[in-house]
Amino acid sequence: MSDQQQPAVGSKSFTAVAINCAAKAGEWIKTKLGNHTSLSLKYSAQDLVTEVDKGSEKMIKSLIQTHFPDHSFLGEEGVEPGPEASAKALQSVRDAEYLWIVDPVDGTTNFVHGFPFFSVSIALAYKGEVIVGVVYDPMRDELFVAEKGKGAYVRGKRMTVSPDDTLKCSLIATGFPADPTYALPLNMKGLQALVPEVRNIRSGGSAALHMAYVASGRLSGFWEFGLNAWDLAAGSLLVTESGGHVTDTKGSLYDIGVRNVVATNGHIHEEFLGVLAKADAAG
Ligand code: IPD
Ligand code: CA
Ligand code: CA
Repeated sequence: MSDQQQPAVGSKSFTAVAINCAAKAGEWIKTKLGNHTSLSLKYSAQDLVTEVDKGSEKMIKSLIQTHFPDHSFLGEEGVEPGPEASAKALQSVRDAEYLWIVDPVDGTTNFVHGFPFFSVSIALAYKGEVIVGVVYDPMRDELFVAEKGKGAYVRGKRMTVSPDDTLKCSLIATGFPADPTYALPLNMKGLQALVPEVRNIRSGGSAALHMAYVASGRLSGFWEFGLNAWDLAAGSLLVTESGGHVTDTKGSLYDIGVRNVVATNGHIHEEFLGVLAKADAAG
C-alpha cells in the first residue's frame, strides 16, 4: 500500500476493534463449551453448526458495524453451505474497499466434542489485501495479532517462524477435508508422500490456529484443501508478518480466493510443494 492509499482511519483502531471482537466472542464461546443446545449439519455429515457459531458471528458483526457501518462483511454463517455458495459470496464482496472476513468458531467439531482447540478468526482486507489479522484461542487465552507491515505478535511478543530448513526436521499439520471425491483423495496422497519425509504430522482441527502455529514457530508448515476465505485470511497475514510464506498448493501467492493452501516458515516451502507435486497431490 502506498502512503496515499493509507486507510482513512488509523489501522490501530481497526486492529483494536478486531481484537475486541475476537476477545469478547472467544470468552463467550468458552462459557458455552459443553453446553451448546443445538447442533445441525450443513453441507455434509462433517460440516457442523451450533447456536454458538451463529451467536458469535452475530456478536462480531454487530460490533464491527457499530464502529464501521460502511464496511463490507463476509462471515461463514451468513453464507449458504458448500464451496459454490462460498465462492459466489466472496465474489460479491471481494472488490469492497474494506472487507471484514470472519470465522466465528473455527474448529466447530472440536468445540462440539469438547476438544479444546478452536478459535475465532477475524481479518480486515483493504481492496482485497489483508491488512489486519487476529486469531484468538479462548482455551489458552492466546491472541495472535498481525498488522500489514508491522509484524505479528502473540501475548504481546513478536512472532517469528521456525528456523527448520528441511522437511526432515519439520513438524507440520493438515486438516482432513470432508469432500470425498476431490479434496480428500488429494489430501491422502499428500499425507502418504509427506509422512516419511517429515518429523511428524498433526491434525488439530482448526485451520486458523494451524496458521497461527506456523506463524509462531510451533509448526513449520501446514497444508489443506477446500478451505474458505474465513479460515485463512487472518492466518495468512500472521504467517507472512512472521517471516513465513503462503501460497496455494501449486505455488501461486496467497490471495483471499485461495482454497488449497500451503503455509510454511519459507525455508521448507519449495521442498514441501515439490513433494506434493511429485505425488500428484497438488490439485
Ligand atoms: C474447519 C476447521 C478444520 C478444517 C476444516 C474447516 P469450521 O472450519 O478449520 O480444521 O479442517 O476444513 O472447515 O467448519 O470448524 O469453521
Ligand atoms: Ca473454519
Ligand atoms: Ca466456523
